Amino acid sequence: MKQIFDVVGFGALNVDKLYKVNKIAGPEEEGFVISCEEACGGSAANTIVGLARLGCKVSFIGKVANDREGKMLLDDFRREGVNIKGIIKAENGRSGVVMGFVDPKGERALYVDPGVNDTISFEEINLEYAFKTKFLHLTSFVGEKSFETQKKLVESLPEHVKVSLDPGELYARKGCKGLEPLISKCFVLMPNVKELTLLTGGKDYVAGAEKLLEMGVKIVAVKLGSRGCYVTDGEESHHVEAFRVEVVDTTGAGDAFCAGFLYGLLNNKSLKKCGEIGNFVASRCIMKMGARAGLPRLEELKLLL
Ligand SMILES: Nc1ncnc2c1ncn2[C@@H]1O[C@H](COP(=O)(O)OP(=O)(O)OP(=O)(O)O)[C@@H](O)[C@H]1O
Ligand SMILES: [Mg+2]
Repeated sequence: MKQIFDVVGFGALNVDKLYKVNKIAGPEEEGFVISCEEACGGSAANTIVGLARLGCKVSFIGKVANDREGKMLLDDFRREGVNIKGIIKAENGRSGVVMGFVDPKGERALYVDPGVNDTISFEEINLEYAFKTKFLHLTSFVGEKSFETQKKLVESLPEHVKVSLDPGELYARKGCKGLEPLISKCFVLMPNVKELTLLTGGKDYVAGAEKLLEMGVKIVAVKLGSRGCYVTDGEESHHVEAFRVEVVDTTGAGDAFCAGFLYGLLNNKSLKKCGEIGNFVASRCIMKMGARAGLPRLEELKLLL
């Protein structure tokens, strides 16, 4: 079968709405909104945009509603060069939204409205998009229905499609047992250190990564924040130092890392180099506000290759 895409993402699509407020209101309290900013997000979606900027052929499996947010999400993908034909459009319901409320001290409260993200059934997925790719990159959904669909899809994938997974905290909380159907089919798993602890139960990430390899994962890349990453495939293991940059906003750093790491794998780079490229793409992301603004283009990455 012809592989049309390098990576197809499959995860929640959200519009992030960040409200600056005078205070975060408690029960029976009232506050007011000072300003509001909107940006397109979703973990897998950010990673896919990162890969598009690096010149990869990418598409997405997800769901939006027939509303303003759904249109924003599709328009943004189109602008970035992401193929959007695999995205399901619901007649009814709301597109996914994440509302963040930040007070003058910088404390925040978050509310996730998953909307139609949580209603994806296996039958409505266009398998053309899931099957004609080198990598299928999975990230979390809040509800069970779309998680069940991911499990079913992973079960039915042809041999040549490699699964990559960034569990995020939501899926890490399911533990190794709950996530086993995805983990056992996973080629590359990219948790941060907290998620790895939630998954495997131990604080030692070298031992945790080992445990995942024993479950059948081929490559584990552990994101270590300002300490960079730890990468292993069972034969070789490396700690790769982070780039020293001025941190503006770490939102989306993990998603950017995944884009860089997958770019390395797609281009047959060594394991260590993949870790370096992951760190590099993440470092550019955190130098700008938001999850996507700093994602580099291929020319910038070439300095490193
Ligand atoms: N202060 C920093 N300086 C340099 N690089 C950083 C810094 N913080 C994060 N990074 C880079 O970003 C990558 C991912 O960050 P982190 O480990 O925080 O992932 P994460 O918790 O999954 O992020 P996210 O909150 O986006 O999900 C790290 O592996 C590293 O390469
Ligand atoms: Mg993360």
